[in-house]
Amino acid sequence: MFQIKNFFQRKILRLEGSKNVLKMNFILHKLFGEKDMGKIGLNFSNKPDRNKVVQDTINRKNYKSYLEIGCFDNVLFDYINCEKKVGVDPYSGGTIRKTSDDFFLKNKETFDCIFIDGLHVYQQVKKDIVNSLKSLNQNGVIFIHDCLPNNVFDQAVPRPKLDWNGNVWKAIVEFRTLDHVDTYTCYADMGIGIILKRKNKKKLNLDIKDFSKLKFYDYLKNFKEYMNIVEYHELENLF
Ligand SMILES: C[S@@+](CC[C@H](N)C(=O)[O-])C[C@H]1O[C@@H](n2cnc3c(N)ncnc32)[C@H](O)[C@@H]1O
Repeated sequence: MFQIKNFFQRKILRLEGSKNVLKMNFILHKLFGEKDMGKIGLNFSNKPDRNKVVQDTINRKNYKSYLEIGCFDNVLFDYINCEKKVGVDPYSGGTIRKTSDDFFLKNKETFDCIFIDGLHVYQQVKKDIVNSLKSLNQNGVIFIHDCLPNNVFDQAVPRPKLDWNGNVWKAIVEFRTLDHVDTYTCYADMGIGIILKRKNKKKLNLDIKDFSKLKFYDYLKNFKEYMNIVEYHELENLF
């Protein structure tokens, strides 16, 4: 049964990423989606990559356990040097062949460092963060990849192009409004969200019931405040 489910999930994933489906989504977004307002001007070329951000943090904090959600071809997972490493991906890479939901359902282990990089869609990222918080040691950190899209198509759902961030940013904005977690975005490698289990030091006051309804236009106008952007060199003083 699991193998049949996995077979169809793989087929769907391949179809979703196929050139024709991406092209069709792009046309649909152009016709019916939010207006293209151009790039917001983020430039990651002289910023550190995720490998450096995560490994430096593990070394600096002397973390002993690492969980990666969404591993693909193990670019990050293989690079990471940590006593205990667990990688979850339903299709490739890592150490556990499951979706993040299935993994967290039965998981009893806790981790010092969790890197979320699975399905880049707001509802799933939100679930991954909530579940990760339950599996995070008190002084640990959750990183979330792809938080800073540069234009409307980088974040449009369904996916319209190969290099795509998804609407992960909406989950970051939501967690910025909560009291019990402290949330930042590191200006590095497409935007790396940072969530710490402590009182929010700079709570975002937004009266929004459904964060999925946020528009790229809101992000474009407010991304510095919404995302609480910090530079890589500031992390040492942050946690
Ligand atoms: C962007 S890639 C990960 C890249 C990797 N973390 C790295 O840094 O090189 C996203 C991965 O998430 C996986 N994925 C998709 N849906 C998932 C889910 N529900 N749970 C866990 N992983 C998922 C995909 O199979 C894919 O391999």
